[in-house]
Amino acid sequence: MEDKVDLIYRGKSYKFPLINGSEDEPAIDIKTLRAQTGLITLDPGYKNTGSCESEITFLDGEEGILRYRGYSIDDLANNTSFIEVAYLLIFGDLPKLDQLQKFEDDIRDYALVDEDFKIILKSFPKSAHPMGILSSLTSALIAFNPSSVDINSEKDFYEAIIILLAKFPVLASWTHRKMKGLPLNYPNYDLSYTDNLAYMIYKMPNKDFRASTTLVSALNKLLILHADHEQNCSTSTVRMVGSSHAGLFPSIASGISALWGPLHGGANQAVIEMLEEIKNDGGDTKKFMAKAKDKNDPFRLMGFGHRVYKNFDPRAKIIKTAADEVLDELGINDPVLEIAKKLEQEALEDPYFVDRKLYPNVDFYSGIIYRALGIPTEMFTVMFAIGRLPGWIAQWKEMRFNKEPIGRPRQIYTGHKHRKV
Ligand code: SDX
Repeated sequence: MEDKVDLIYRGKSYKFPLINGSEDEPAIDIKTLRAQTGLITLDPGYKNTGSCESEITFLDGEEGILRYRGYSIDDLANNTSFIEVAYLLIFGDLPKLDQLQKFEDDIRDYALVDEDFKIILKSFPKSAHPMGILSSLTSALIAFNPSSVDINSEKDFYEAIIILLAKFPVLASWTHRKMKGLPLNYPNYDLSYTDNLAYMIYKMPNKDFRASTTLVSALNKLLILHADHEQNCSTSTVRMVGSSHAGLFPSIASGISALWGPLHGGANQAVIEMLEEIKNDGGDTKKFMAKAKDKNDPFRLMGFGHRVYKNFDPRAKIIKTAADEVLDELGINDPVLEIAKKLEQEALEDPYFVDRKLYPNVDFYSGIIYRALGIPTEMFTVMFAIGRLPGWIAQWKEMRFNKEPIGRPRQIYTGHKHRKV
């Protein structure tokens, strides 16, 4: 493949290097564009712009392919645990047995959260959205832990990673318990990562709790499927904040806020609210499809469409199968699942959606499983954040180890020319 790209501008020819990724994706390296030509590029939403080179996640939107460090998402979802995938994303390979044992033990040792977090939690109204609480508690982690991370010290950096992975699910479960007015559960040292998460979410003070294999298997799969997704909005936020050499904790707290938006991770909550609205309105999916296609109507089919996937989101396929299994095993007949399947079928046959290559994404079916597992709708995006945490950590680590420059895009000014007061 040609290794240079020619740009002709005002009669002059400029050459720019062409680089190729390990999956042969080509890119024009424009690092010297402005110095050579005085030009910048304009690309709102960065639809055509790569922010970095990364070895962590590969996705092919046209083919519907998603791989973490080379492993396909269905292979990982069916054959590994979430904590193994977290290790894979952060350290580059699946852990050997002794590495996994040490990783899990270290996380257990750091799982206790400072008791003063209960005072912070107590100050929130019960009506507070869990993502707002989680973002605040994660920021508070900074006050109780090193605000910056000495990435040159392998020991300090490893400890910061372990602190986050250990304490995040505790804070997330406490957020849930606070919202429900339930007593907080401490982490259970004898349980695996996902089992312990279920324990902290569901354990009631007046009876024993043992998570069913259905519950742990579904949670494990959902967390793996959400673990990373290359340079999505919240991950780009984590990288951007970290590029100023802000610490790992503040960078993650920023990622939580970006994920909250209904166009991003907040879509899983918006999907269920949309399906409920359709059910309560009589189940007329065609009426809502018409609204989604009407340019004058702000309504969008939540859980549909994707910036990169112009084919099925491979995660949506796995989650759809898991939704059927979980509801079947729990003996739940959820009418919104039928509405979801009807919407999907109609969208796959509708020219508006077909022409724009709008398919169900990761958020379309995940809420149906969370709901079947008894997780409140407002907590769905918190569950997404628990899954995405290792991806954010891995991407932040890569950005800092690659000594990437501070992120600072340019602009094209269209305001007033100089004028006097
Ligand atoms: C996630 O980036 C990631 O990787 C994210 C994520 C991850 O793992 O991190 O995969 C997680 O965020 C999944 C997406 C969850 N969001 C939703 O489900 C919200 C609904 N979807 C849309 O808002 C939209 O599809 C986006 C935000 C996901 C993508 O928007 P884009 O890429 O900016 O596309 P666009 O808005 O320019 O849409 C292109 C066209 C437009 O129509 P035209 O102007 O060409 O006529 O498609 C239309 C849009 O109006 N369109 C939709 C639609 N999504 C796009 N029309 C109706 N319903 C929709 N859902």
